[in-house]
Amino acid sequence: MTDAVVQPAFQPGEGFAIAMDERDPLKEFRERFLFPKTRGGDCVYLCGHSLGLQPKAAAQYIEQELKDWAQLGVEGHFRAKNPWMPYHRLLTEQTAELVGAKPVEVVAMNSLTVNLHLMMVSFYRPTKERHKIVVERGAFPSDQYAVQSQIRFHGFDPATSLIELAPRPDEACLRDEDIDSVIERAGDETALILLGGVNYSTGQAFDMARITRLGHERGCVVGFDLAHAAGNLLLRLHEWGPDFAAWCSYKYLNGGPGCVAGCFVHERDARAWGLPRFAGWWGHDEQSRFEMGPEFRAMPGAEGWQLSNPPIVSLAILRASMDVFQEAGMENLRAKSVSMTGYLEFLLKQLQEKQNVSPRFAIITPVEHERRGAQISIRIYQHGRALCERLAQDGIFGDWREPDIFRVAPVPLYNSYHDVFRFVRRFADAIG
Ligand SMILES: Cc1ncc(COP(=O)(O)O)c(C=O)c1O
Repeated sequence: MTDAVVQPAFQPGEGFAIAMDERDPLKEFRERFLFPKTRGGDCVYLCGHSLGLQPKAAAQYIEQELKDWAQLGVEGHFRAKNPWMPYHRLLTEQTAELVGAKPVEVVAMNSLTVNLHLMMVSFYRPTKERHKIVVERGAFPSDQYAVQSQIRFHGFDPATSLIELAPRPDEACLRDEDIDSVIERAGDETALILLGGVNYSTGQAFDMARITRLGHERGCVVGFDLAHAAGNLLLRLHEWGPDFAAWCSYKYLNGGPGCVAGCFVHERDARAWGLPRFAGWWGHDEQSRFEMGPEFRAMPGAEGWQLSNPPIVSLAILRASMDVFQEAGMENLRAKSVSMTGYLEFLLKQLQEKQNVSPRFAIITPVEHERRGAQISIRIYQHGRALCERLAQDGIFGDWREPDIFRVAPVPLYNSYHDVFRFVRRFADAIG
């Protein structure tokens, strides 16, 4: 993650936020999204790390497919304005650009946990000598269940086959040197390193290039869950070289609840026909797919891992959002994100200074912008979940993760500096 960003000198007053919004080159994009309303006004929505907002154009994109379905029925597979047979390919170039991959390396398919399982079927091949999986302690539960079930599926025991990377006592985030030393120490027994690009709870971003390099040097397969990284960080997957990655599209990518997910398989495995995989007809060579033969022959690249024909309406929404991403440009978005999250941190620190007698909260996300995305995670010492709920009633949306984490993410595509200002002002009242 290399982003050259000059941090402006932040100022505490509301006028600063308004001035920053006025000179924001991306400010028009806010108008492309639908904001939930509270008491008639737009809420302060800092929850794009959980569910992104609806692009206004989504309805139009869906309408096109409904119209073609109504008018063409089954013929729509070939004769729709955007034929459904190759519809997923409308997303290939944009997705590849978004995650820094080659088109052959990416596909939109299934959902995130399904894709992680499909990837592990092919890339987690444990042996008696090398059967371990390295994950973050406190990885998102679905990932924990997925890796544990994969370990058991192969006849091993998570008690002896799972290595969890843990922060040091009294620290919230992992240190690079601790990740390195686990890979160094346990690399020879490790079949797979599977980490988040950004930890869902702390907001810590990992150095994926370095982890991939170290893992590969020790002979491990390396994969990433990019749920909190896709559409958030600048990614260079092809160059960094992990074996696989998967991400959902309903957070920073605004594809809507349960939207079709993304998957990356590095080009070096594009024609690895010998890899075991779970197969379905949509991953079969498309030239002969409709010959309906009994023998599976995989498509080259990530498309060869598809199972089913994809949900077109869901892909249509994702297209609406990805078109906006392309227009805005990921580098521009990341530059604004670094600045806006820095501003959020600045205001929160000012608040902390006023409270230094008895601190009510702590920021647990790393301070270096290379080590975080848009999200700031705030540890709340009192009030608990009630604080988050009270703010939501007033139209201020972050979200709560047990036991004590309040997560907020200013999203550069649609949030403003004034949103951040309003959030901190209301948060200051609520926290007392
Ligand atoms: C880091 C991470 N991994 C996995 C998941 C599970 O995603 P899905 O329900 O789309 O499989 C989530 C969902 O929020 C997540 O944040």
